[in-house]
Amino acid sequence: MSDPQPVYLSDYQPPAYRVTHTELTFDLDPAATRVKARLLIERHAKADANAPLVLNGEHLKLISLSIDATPLNESAYQVDAETLSIANVPERFVLESEVEIAPQENTALEGLYQSNGMYCTQCEAEGFRRITFYPDRPDVMATFKVTVIGDQQREPVLLANGNPLERGELEGGRHFVTWEDPHPKPCYLFALVAGNLHSVEDHFTTMSGREVTLQVWVEQENLDKTEHAMASLKRAMVWDEQAYGREYDLDLFMIVAVNDFNMGAMENKGLNIFNSAAVLTHPHTATDAAFQNVEGIVAHEYFHNWSGNRVTCRDWFQLSLKEGFTVFRDQCFSADTNSAPVKRIQDVSFFRTAQFAEDAGPTAHPIRPDHFIEITNFYTLTIYEKGAEVVRMLRNLVGEENFRRGSDLYFERFDGQAVTIEDFVGCMAETSGEDLSQFMRWYSQAGTPDIDAHGEYDYVHGEYHLTLRQRTPATPGQPDKLPLHIPVRMGLVGTKSGQDLTLTLNGEKIGKDAVIHLRDDEQTFVFTDVAEAPVPSLLREFSAPVKLHFPYSREDLAFLLTHDSDGFNRWDAGQRLALLALDDLIAAHRNSVEKVMDSRVVDAFKTLLNGPISDKAVLAEMLTLPSEAYIAEQQPIVDVDAIHAAREFVRQSLALALREEFVAIYEANVTEEPYAPTPEQIAQRSLKNVALSYLMSIEDEQGLALCEAQFSADHNMTDVRQALTLLVHSDRDDLASPALKSFGEKWAHDPLVMDQWFTIQVSRPQGDVLERVKYLMQHPAFSLKNPNKVRALIGAFAQNRVNFHRLDGQGYQLLADVVIELNRLNPEIAARLITPLTRWQRFDETRQVLMRSQLERIRQQPLSPNVYEVVEKALA
Ligand code: ARG
Ligand code: ZN
Repeated sequence: MSDPQPVYLSDYQPPAYRVTHTELTFDLDPAATRVKARLLIERHAKADANAPLVLNGEHLKLISLSIDATPLNESAYQVDAETLSIANVPERFVLESEVEIAPQENTALEGLYQSNGMYCTQCEAEGFRRITFYPDRPDVMATFKVTVIGDQQREPVLLANGNPLERGELEGGRHFVTWEDPHPKPCYLFALVAGNLHSVEDHFTTMSGREVTLQVWVEQENLDKTEHAMASLKRAMVWDEQAYGREYDLDLFMIVAVNDFNMGAMENKGLNIFNSAAVLTHPHTATDAAFQNVEGIVAHEYFHNWSGNRVTCRDWFQLSLKEGFTVFRDQCFSADTNSAPVKRIQDVSFFRTAQFAEDAGPTAHPIRPDHFIEITNFYTLTIYEKGAEVVRMLRNLVGEENFRRGSDLYFERFDGQAVTIEDFVGCMAETSGEDLSQFMRWYSQAGTPDIDAHGEYDYVHGEYHLTLRQRTPATPGQPDKLPLHIPVRMGLVGTKSGQDLTLTLNGEKIGKDAVIHLRDDEQTFVFTDVAEAPVPSLLREFSAPVKLHFPYSREDLAFLLTHDSDGFNRWDAGQRLALLALDDLIAAHRNSVEKVMDSRVVDAFKTLLNGPISDKAVLAEMLTLPSEAYIAEQQPIVDVDAIHAAREFVRQSLALALREEFVAIYEANVTEEPYAPTPEQIAQRSLKNVALSYLMSIEDEQGLALCEAQFSADHNMTDVRQALTLLVHSDRDDLASPALKSFGEKWAHDPLVMDQWFTIQVSRPQGDVLERVKYLMQHPAFSLKNPNKVRALIGAFAQNRVNFHRLDGQGYQLLADVVIELNRLNPEIAARLITPLTRWQRFDETRQVLMRSQLERIRQQPLSPNVYEVVEKALA
């Protein structure tokens, strides 16, 4: 077998044939579903008249084929494992085909498959080709009419995109429903669902007065878990009208919850399909974080109706066109609905940990890659989250008003079309008059730029000289980088006044908080009329996805922590201060020197705890130490044990020094109010639970008592999960074991809660975790075929820094074993699971050898293109 080959952006050709209308009939059967397709096809005006018709099709059994009602004999076409080609076709014609597929055998969860007995689909990016022969590419857009035939008992509900047209009974206990979607769409937005489902219904009136029926479809036992998703959907619909002027365009909008799903959710036209973890919530089964995640994902998929569906991508290289923009939109929505600074802190904190790591590793790629082997490997943090950061920079560059005008222009001009990133940025350039040509490099250059900054205050002239130097490190295939256009939002905070000073640049007053533009490799900005020595506050709100290095002293950071007018940078100053202290402690641990806690960190925390509390959610974030993963990102070579020991030492030192304060905070934030996922309650719970985690780090009687009481009170999942996690991660197995057992028994029937039960156990720092993972893989609630289970158990274990990186290599071996098995069942999930191993270059020599040897072992297997691509890059 030859190695899988990449496709290149530069090879893009418009399709020779387009499908203008698609009619499908599904006769459902687990082992032998019949799919009839009737396609109206036209040759493109510019295409060669002799161009063959080439359709994609994989794992399809061809039953019949005809053109304009004349059956084709076998010499008229060619079928191989991936395509169907017909040499001589007219300019316009009707192609009819019938194929057979086996949904019950589809463990890849792409195309039509079964989950818990129900039928569902996932077609993005290239899953439709597993359903019927079709030009499976996003620049072919057709109207769809779909008939679904199923068993009246087993599949009382038959859903597809658009509006229901007709339904009726058939012989043999079967029935059908026909659906019509009037909006032309690419086939990746096709969806079908059939099964024994129940719905919760609501209504929404759009800004122009259109009445829309909203439905959330779930299995019967989950009917009590839909309220939050429905409320989130309605908020998202209002928000998109107000923030972007976008209105919904069908009479019906449906959401379906599915247990087996590779990703979070999918924006199929009018019929969004969700991983049940991304839609179902109940105070007793879902944490605050899960509630917020559901709100964000429901909004994300809804927003795609415009940014993705009405205006779609020309080809998959443009994926970030819809994903980066839509993530940006859902981030802004969540910021408006909850605490804006906390949303930004959480997003950036995740981004700097996970996306920076991706950008620094062997799978680094630009937001618009120029080649790929398997597109499902490119649903990444770079395409999504860095893509969103780039849209955010654009908005900052052109200003809010021009940005909105640019987006209006984009939606109006390209409605119903499949377009490129240039089309989007072009609209922004057009409405703002800005030259965005240098900015476009953000889309083609991979890697995280480093900005080295330094500043000098000139007392004599009252000037502050700020020098910024940018450099983007080499990434695979991109040894040399050009300078980027980087917006740096900043202020100068006066050390005497504690206030933002007015900024004067080139003789012009530009305000107290302004964006300066770094375009060259190195630039010096001279601020004049600076009356007192300032501490610069740079990259406010994280105005660009870069690593900013400035030689702040600990005193500077303590000052910014209390004085910066930018909430994000106040938080970041705290993180930087903690990182400096952690650095010393990591070094002490490595050199076996006694660890000494930096009193400046203790003082800073004390000030926070005793100061006035304006936003509890922000305070909770400020009291949270950088994660081990983020600390690791700052180290040249990751020493997992030293990092863990240093961070634990800081936690315990703070808990010992500030015990009374933490107890007071805990007690002040206990409430008997019934659970609601409101920003106020969430803020209270986060603050209380941060305090509890400090108290539990020293495992004294009071902390343990509070923790046990919180667990037994069983008030809501946020509190229960935090208490259970702290018990399980403590050394008190005598308390943890009974709690784990009762929790596991109580929730044995609920897969989403069992996922949490798995994760809590395999993320504990104690040394017995590997054995526990192996044991839990045999648990009746675990299944390798269910992606949520794989993520909850195996994925979570691979995030367990201490145990996954065991020096005997058994953690790596276990992961590789699972990857090898999943490679056959579900290549997309298998490829994703390898990620931690691809980061081998970041570790010490011994671990590098161990990690590489597991990658080599995987490479020896017959591999799916997905796993092949990742492993090849990792070992290159
Ligand atoms: N477009 C979907 C979303 O962002 C994700 C689709 C993922 N597809 C896949 N094959 N992984 O909401
Ligand atoms: Zn998306």
